[in-house]
Amino acid sequence: MTATLDRHVGTQHRAAVDLQGVGKVFGRGTSAVTALTEVDLRVQPGEFVVLLGASGCGKTTLLNLVAGLDQPTAGAVTVDSGRPAVMFQEPALLPWLDAGRNVELPLRLAGVGRAARRARAAELLDLVRLGGLARKRPHELSGGMRQRVALARALAATSSGTDAEGGLLLMDEPFAALDAITRDFLQGELQRIWQATGAAVLFVTHDVREAVRLGQRVVLLSSRPGTVVREWDLAAAGTDREELSEEITGRLREVISTHARA
Ligand SMILES: Nc1ncnc2c1ncn2[C@@H]1O[C@H](COP(=O)(O)OP(=O)(O)OP(=O)(O)O)[C@@H](O)[C@H]1O
Ligand SMILES: [Mg+2]
Repeated sequence: MTATLDRHVGTQHRAAVDLQGVGKVFGRGTSAVTALTEVDLRVQPGEFVVLLGASGCGKTTLLNLVAGLDQPTAGAVTVDSGRPAVMFQEPALLPWLDAGRNVELPLRLAGVGRAARRARAAELLDLVRLGGLARKRPHELSGGMRQRVALARALAATSSGTDAEGGLLLMDEPFAALDAITRDFLQGELQRIWQATGAAVLFVTHDVREAVRLGQRVVLLSSRPGTVVREWDLAAAGTDREELSEEITGRLREVISTHARA
């Protein structure tokens, strides 16, 4: 009992993701591009944070740093939830594996037995409305279908059961290429799954409606170089999401127009 309590107290001080003074410059000299500057951002265990910003402001760059796929040129990135599951803007499926095997992959890497991972993959493909398409290879699927396979795979990675604290899911505009109805459905599913798994989610979008629907906290990045300009706590009591949506849209417009004039 005491041990459980201690661990609980301990995790309150440790963020799932902690970025301090993070900067990223690509290239050198006159061709150098500063993608991010002085980014401070924390995601608590189990928290759903949406990162909102205009195209090119450094959202994908930031997610890559958190995923450990790239290194910052300034500051520190600390991730405290094991290996994060990542869902990219592009589906990034393995072309030689069928949909089912792609979804199974993280489970296989986590050492889940064959029958169990088959069953789980089938369940997840059903969830993203691709039941019956497990044997199709990526090139036989539409772009939106591939993106849904990628979502099922990310969910498999999040729920592979190796991390008792719930893990971390990094999502880069995962629903941008989908039709409105499928997007709406998957947003709902993502919320449900997030609540069920207790994973922390860092979700990137440039869509204010999506941000306000999904996030407990919305963090607005400025145009390049990206830095945090504003945060909204949507989980606070009495938050009117409709009203907030208008306020956030206004700020996003400001941020984009400042960039256009610069
Ligand atoms: N590997 C790289 N080498 C050089 N420049 C890069 C590299 N990756 C990103 N950039 C630059 O960094 C900036 C931020 O890019 P990033 O992809 O992070 O933007 P983004 O916010 O994800 O945009 P979008 O919403 O269009 O996906 C851009 O100016 C881009 O050209
Ligand atoms: Mg991007």
